[in-house]
Amino acid sequence: MTIVDDEGRSPAAVPYAVEVPDRVPKERYYDPEFFRLEAERLWPRVWQMACRLEEIPEPGDFAEYQIVDQSVVVVRTDDLGVTAFQNACRHRGVKVATGHGRCESAFTCPFHGWRYGPDGTNVGVPRRRSFSEHNLCAGELDLTPVRCETWGGCAWINLDPDAPPLRECLEPYASILDAWKVESLRTEWWYAARLPVNWKLAIEAFVEAYHVPQAHPQLVIPTRYGLRPGEEFDREAFIEADIRYLRAMNEGMAGMVHADDVAIAESLRDVELPAEPEAAMATWNRTLDRAVTDWHRQRGDDMPDLEDLRARGLNLEFFQGFPNAFVLPMYSSASAYRFRPLGPEETLMEIWSLTRGAEREEREPPRPPEAWSHDDPRWPPIPAQDFANIPLQQQGLHARGFEYMRLSGQLEGHISNFQRLVDGFLAGLPHDRLLPALREVNVYPFDRPVVDLGIEGAAR
Ligand code: FES
Ligand SMILES: [Fe+2]
Repeated sequence: MTIVDDEGRSPAAVPYAVEVPDRVPKERYYDPEFFRLEAERLWPRVWQMACRLEEIPEPGDFAEYQIVDQSVVVVRTDDLGVTAFQNACRHRGVKVATGHGRCESAFTCPFHGWRYGPDGTNVGVPRRRSFSEHNLCAGELDLTPVRCETWGGCAWINLDPDAPPLRECLEPYASILDAWKVESLRTEWWYAARLPVNWKLAIEAFVEAYHVPQAHPQLVIPTRYGLRPGEEFDREAFIEADIRYLRAMNEGMAGMVHADDVAIAESLRDVELPAEPEAAMATWNRTLDRAVTDWHRQRGDDMPDLEDLRARGLNLEFFQGFPNAFVLPMYSSASAYRFRPLGPEETLMEIWSLTRGAEREEREPPRPPEAWSHDDPRWPPIPAQDFANIPLQQQGLHARGFEYMRLSGQLEGHISNFQRLVDGFLAGLPHDRLLPALREVNVYPFDRPVVDLGIEGAAR
């Protein structure tokens, strides 16, 4: 298969491209060559959330970020900015930093002791005069810089010098989450899962609501979703149903809807609601938004006005920052996900529970958790339900008679949009063509139809 680039660029082959938008070839989820192409043409060209800033609060604090075969070190600078460099000593390539820690005065390579300042500048070569001049050229001895920018309480890296700035690649996700003040959230807990599935397959289990009735029946609470024909609107039952839903989300994710916000909803049981169902729901939503906003503001939290956000249509509950960083805001708090491939059929999925107010507490900086297996009994109910299904899906894809996933173009269109954007990167399209497509994918994914990304035909 070849690429037809409409600017006449030389074609690059994308095997198993998505040619029919609502059909995803199965090989994309396990073929080693496809995985290698992603490592070569996708991951080095996209912005990736490398760490949360609270992991590296003090000057000299560093966090290593590993993506496929690339290791990047992110360091907090003296002016509390961040900088990043490739994790390879300029002598013979040894990694100069591992995991998390603090660089007191320099990173010292464990092999022969070359030294680098926290900004990556080489500050020491033992027995320097034993090297010939051409191996000591100025500037070539420093750790190789990596682009690093901050947004939303996180440091992001991009290995591509030609990529557009972070912010441009995160819209409209960034503006909406800024309005929701995502940057003032802090980690309540951080879990990790090793999943025996492809990274795209893992992501796709979380970007459609079509699976909810079958996979998460506890989240389907009829009264919350409107009335059956002939049914009379019962105000009390409606409030109870909404509280039950908020509680199910809280228990299901050990967060997402924070326990504080559930308690606030429970305190509003006696609120007066109009008799007409639509008006009653609007009043309930407004009352709860107001109460949650006021409760957090009184506590001194940096809290957005939820009522105002809802009025402006900015109260969305799910965001994918292409390719692999998710935020799921619910009232004051959020869950966040990050997915990284460990191999063609293995994924590291991290989950954060993020909340407000914690920045005032003295806390140890969060550290990467031990990765639990997908069937570990400690998983809260919602991820446990998803993690039970996806390994079965990964195995089923290998069936000889199974060729492609058939998507609902209405309900699962986001999966197609996401996959076709992956193809755009694999085809080597220039960033100016990818940027509008990125913005189509960085939106609320549930029940999204297949859309024209403007790169159609590029990957065939
Ligand atoms: S490899 Fe780093 S000092 Fe030799
Ligand atoms: Fe799910």
